[in-house]
Amino acid sequence: MKKITIAIDGYSSTGKSTLAKQLAKELGYVYIDTGAMYRAVTFFAMQKGLIKADYFDQEGLIEALDQIQLEFQYNAVRGFAEIHLNQKNVEEAIRTLEVSSFVSQVAQISEVRKKLVEQQQSFGRSKGVVMDGRDIGTVVFPDAELKIFMTASPEVRARRRFDELVAKSQKVTFEEVYQNVVERDRIDTSREDSPLVKAVDAIEFDNTTVDKEAQFLQILELAKQVLAKQ
Ligand code: DC
Repeated sequence: MKKITIAIDGYSSTGKSTLAKQLAKELGYVYIDTGAMYRAVTFFAMQKGLIKADYFDQEGLIEALDQIQLEFQYNAVRGFAEIHLNQKNVEEAIRTLEVSSFVSQVAQISEVRKKLVEQQQSFGRSKGVVMDGRDIGTVVFPDAELKIFMTASPEVRARRRFDELVAKSQKVTFEEVYQNVVERDRIDTSREDSPLVKAVDAIEFDNTTVDKEAQFLQILELAKQVLAKQ
């Protein structure tokens, strides 16, 4: 059967990655978490001292982009591909609130986006990919056969993110996480290069109150319908 490209975009903490992983597993496709790529670049900038509270050496980061090598390596135990930055597994290190607090600034830079979008397009060249992010259906794969756009209320999203961070023993308050969610929404939707926006042909799902398993089954059905037409 012919393979398709599935683009999943939307706001942070709407369950995009869980959905994308489930779809990829069910269809035998490759899952690519593009947010992890922006987070890994941010982590690199933090390690090099290029970004701190109230300080961001954008030119320095642009100059250092050639030193950044990103790869996804499949982890059979976890059942998905983990991100590696310059040969080091950073899958966990990029999930802190500190990285979240800087990542939208890094993702605004056109040179960063250009580098990552090119790599994302090369990952998807042979189809059979489920990719989640903010600009997948609009910029990375405007011809994707299935485009999903996920939303949920900021309160519910902050609550989910807060619970995840607490489960990983990170010391954060709900208010900090909520402010981060709202601030990232603001920057991600208003940036000049590839802002977060629903593609005209994307199908929108709001999961503020909906059961995520039911939503997954609904989207899997949609994918099967699209596949049947190929
Ligand atoms: O999906 P996430 O929360 O891990 O993404 C982290 C940040 O990266 C998000 O706030 C915006 C940015 N991002 C982006 O600009 N474009 C993408 N395709 C994916 C993420």
